[in-house]
Amino acid sequence: MDPISSSSLSPYYHIIFTALAFLVSGLIFLLSRKTKSKKLNLPPGPPGWPVVGNLFQVARSGKPFFQYVRELLPKYGPIFTMKMGATTMIILSSAELVHEALIEKSQVFATRPRENPTRIVFSCNKFTVNSALYGPVWRSLRRNMVQNGLCASRLKEFRFARETAMNKLIDRLRSEAEANNGTVWVLKNARFAVFCILLTMCFGIELDEKMIESIDELMKTVLMVLTPRMDDYLPLLSPFFSKQRKWAMQVRQEQIETLVKLIERRRKALQNPGSDKSAVSFSYLDTLFDLKIEGRKSSPTNSELVTLCSEFVNGGTDTTGTSIEWAMARLIDNPNIQSKLYDEIKSTVGERKVDEKDVEKMPYLNAVVKELLRKHPPTYFSLTHAVIEPAKLGGYDIPTDTNVEIFLPGISEDPKLWTNPEKFDPDRFLSGREEADITGVTGVKMAPFGVGRRICPGLSMATVHVNLIIARMVQEFEWSAYPANSKLDFTEKLEFTVVMKDTLRATIKPRV
Ligand code: HEM
Repeated sequence: MDPISSSSLSPYYHIIFTALAFLVSGLIFLLSRKTKSKKLNLPPGPPGWPVVGNLFQVARSGKPFFQYVRELLPKYGPIFTMKMGATTMIILSSAELVHEALIEKSQVFATRPRENPTRIVFSCNKFTVNSALYGPVWRSLRRNMVQNGLCASRLKEFRFARETAMNKLIDRLRSEAEANNGTVWVLKNARFAVFCILLTMCFGIELDEKMIESIDELMKTVLMVLTPRMDDYLPLLSPFFSKQRKWAMQVRQEQIETLVKLIERRRKALQNPGSDKSAVSFSYLDTLFDLKIEGRKSSPTNSELVTLCSEFVNGGTDTTGTSIEWAMARLIDNPNIQSKLYDEIKSTVGERKVDEKDVEKMPYLNAVVKELLRKHPPTYFSLTHAVIEPAKLGGYDIPTDTNVEIFLPGISEDPKLWTNPEKFDPDRFLSGREEADITGVTGVKMAPFGVGRRICPGLSMATVHVNLIIARMVQEFEWSAYPANSKLDFTEKLEFTVVMKDTLRATIKPRV
C-alpha cells in the first residue's frame, strides 16, 4: 500500500537529516560505486541525490506520495524508478504492465519485499497472509483464510453478525442525527459497523461497545506505528529514532496483552461449551489454534495468533469504511443517482429491510459499487510486490530486493480504457458501453483488490459489506450536503487509506 506518508516525512525530519545524510553520502556513494558490478537496465525515473535518492524531494514537496507519483506519470510514463534512500521502487501504472507482471508472470512477481524492523516485529517475522514471502507459509496461511475463514459457506454463517451490525449502524446514525440537527459523520460510523462484524467473525465472542471502541483505538495506533519512518529508508539514521522504536515496542506489548485476553476467552469457550453465552459456533480464530503450517511442526504461538487476528480485522475495516465515505459523497453530489438507487431498493424489497440476498438482485446498486471502486479505490497503491528471481518487465530489468509498487488509479483513470474516466457514472456498466472484470482474470481495467495470486482474499466479503451498507443507509435516510446546498470537496488525503480531505459530514432525513 502507500509506501510513505507525508506526515512521516515532515519538514522537521528532513531539515535535520538532510545535513546528516550529506555528510555520510559522499563516503557511501564511493563505496557503493565500487561494489556495483554489472549495469542493470532499470526503468528511468526522476534524478535523485547520492544515497538519499528522491527521498527528500518527496518530503520537501509536502505532497502525499500518491500525489507526487501522479504528477510524475506524464513525464516518466507507466513504469519508472524512484530511489527512496536504500529502497529502490519501481512504479507501475498501466493495465498492460500490471497484466504482464501479475497475470502472465504471476509466480515471479508474487512475493513481498524485505520488511522494515518494526514491521518484522508486528508481523512476527512475516507470519501473515499479506506479508509472507511467496512459499509454504504464505500458502498455508492464505489457504486457511480463504477456505476456512472467508469461503461462501462461512460468510453465510455470519449473516447474523452483519444484520446486528447494520441495525446498530442505523440506530447510531439516527440518534447522532437527532442530537446534532440532522447531521452525522459518515466514515466513523461506517468503520465502526465493519469493525464490529470483523471482530465477531475473528474472535467469535460478543464484546460490549466500550471494549470494541478501545480495541479500535489500539488498532489505529498499531497502524500509526507501522507507517514507514525516515530510518526505514535510510537505516544509517536509526540511532536517531530510538524513542520511536521504544514506543513501537510498547504498542506491540499492549496489542499482545489486549488481544491475548480475547484469544484466551475464546479458547475457554471452546473447551467448555456453553460456558460463554456470547460465544458463537465458529470463528476465524478457531481455524488458527491448530493450524498446520507447511514445513513447520508447531501450531501458531499466542503472539502469532495476535498478529493473524489483527491482520483479519485491520485488512477490512479502513478499506471498507473508506469506500462508504466516498459512496455517500458521490450520492450526495448526484441526487439523481441516489434517487435511482432508492427506487431500485423500494421496487426490490418493498417495505421490509434490505437483506444481503436482495443485494444480488440489484444491478443498479452493483453498478454504483463497481463505479465507486473504480473511481475511489480505497488504497491507491496495491500492497508492495517483489520478484522471486531477477525478472524482465516491459523490457526493463527488475532485480530482486526491489519494491514493485502498483499505482491503481493509473489503470482505472486511463482514458485509453475508459470514456470520461473522471466522471462518476454507474450507468457506464449498465448500458453495455463498458465492462470490467474486477478480478482481472479476463483482463485488467481496474484493480481495487489487486489481481493475480496475491489478489485480496476478502474481495467477496468486502463487496457484500459495501453493497449492504450503502443499501441500508439509502433505504433508511435521504442524504444531503452539510451545510445545505454546499458543494462537496473531493480532494483526497492519505490516512492509511485514501480518505476525503474534509471528512464527510452529511445531513440525513429518515425516509419514513
Ligand atoms: C473494500 C475493501 C478492501 C479492499 C479495497 C482491499 C484491497 C486489497 C488490496 C489492493 C490488496 C493487495 C493485493 C496485492 O498484493 O496485489 C489486498 C490484500 C489483502 N487483503 Fe484486502 N481489501 C479489502 C478488504 C479486505 C478484507 C475484508 C479482508 C479480510 C478480512 C482483506 C484481507 C486482505 C489480505 C489478507 C490481503 C493479502 C493477500 C496476500 O498477500 O496474499 N481485505 N487487499
